[in-house]
Amino acid sequence: MAMVCLSDFEAYAKKYLPKIAWDFFAAGADDCSTRDENILAYKRIRFRPRMLRDVSTMDIRTKLLEAEISFPVGIAPTGFHQLAWPDGEKSTARAAKAMNTCYIASTYSTCTLEEISAAAPGGLRWFQLYIHRNRAVSQQLVQRAEALGFQALVLTVDLPYTGKRCDDVRNGFRLPPHMKLKNLEGAFEVCKMSPSFHSLHWHYGLPPNSMDPSVTWNDIYWLRSLTHLPIIIKGILTKEDAELAVRHGVQGIIVSNHGGRQLDGGPATVDALVEVVEAVQGRVEVYLDGGIRKGSDVLKALALGAKCVFIGRPALWGLAYK
Ligand code: FNR
Repeated sequence: MAMVCLSDFEAYAKKYLPKIAWDFFAAGADDCSTRDENILAYKRIRFRPRMLRDVSTMDIRTKLLEAEISFPVGIAPTGFHQLAWPDGEKSTARAAKAMNTCYIASTYSTCTLEEISAAAPGGLRWFQLYIHRNRAVSQQLVQRAEALGFQALVLTVDLPYTGKRCDDVRNGFRLPPHMKLKNLEGAFEVCKMSPSFHSLHWHYGLPPNSMDPSVTWNDIYWLRSLTHLPIIIKGILTKEDAELAVRHGVQGIIVSNHGGRQLDGGPATVDALVEVVEAVQGRVEVYLDGGIRKGSDVLKALALGAKCVFIGRPALWGLAYK
């Protein structure tokens, strides 16, 4: 079958991935209304096209914080790439480099940051961070990423607790035993020694309650004290938080609702984009992810003020297709 558009890759992934992996990638929180709205919102936006503009040469290169990429679509951070393809994040890194675009590697990668770097030397990469209760774990990750040449830190702020993804609960989703959250290996040894440890229900390969839900805007200053890397904040959906982000000195904002996997009932990201762009007034770069499935979606997001967009699930479908 000829693979013509992203939905062909989606259909392929659905057919060939184990159900538990497909369900994990596809999942949204609760009723999945925000996940689905991310896509529906693009269908409601219509173009107002102009004619006779000389489009004989086209240049879709852009810059992310001064680094040039060949087109305005990067790869959003997603965990567990080995569920889609044995080489996991190493393949993602190679693909992003081959396309000369940016790959945001997740804290929850199934390859180490060192393996990801070595797989595609010189590729443009950012590191996505979750802040754990054990702050030393997060600090070490930031410093490792910086030493390895990752060029920005992406702090995800919409996951103080994990959203309720019903299919994962029904399937009893767990990482297969041969896959590990490689960047966190050894990080939770201390809790392993606790007597109740083995009776605890692990969540997505992590001990329960490992994420720090007490994180506030002040922690941006803590992060700033750890690294010289630019900080980009991922998960902003309102003008109020956009203003706070700028005031706390971040260099970029990703308008995101985590692909609808966290708070169900929030807006589609392309609908939230407009107020964020208006609030920011060009002081920092604004990007978007969620529901991008076609070039025309990219164009709509750019026309509404995004500098670049990122794709999450489609990159996983691509991995599943080799
Ligand atoms: C994610 N997302 C995510 N975000 C993040 O900051 N860290 C992570 O580890 C993950 N993991 C993750 C796993 C899977 C399977 C999915 C689908 C998503 C959210 C991701 O970065 C992005 O916000 C959305 O995927 C964008 O929506 P689309 O492109 O999938 O519609």
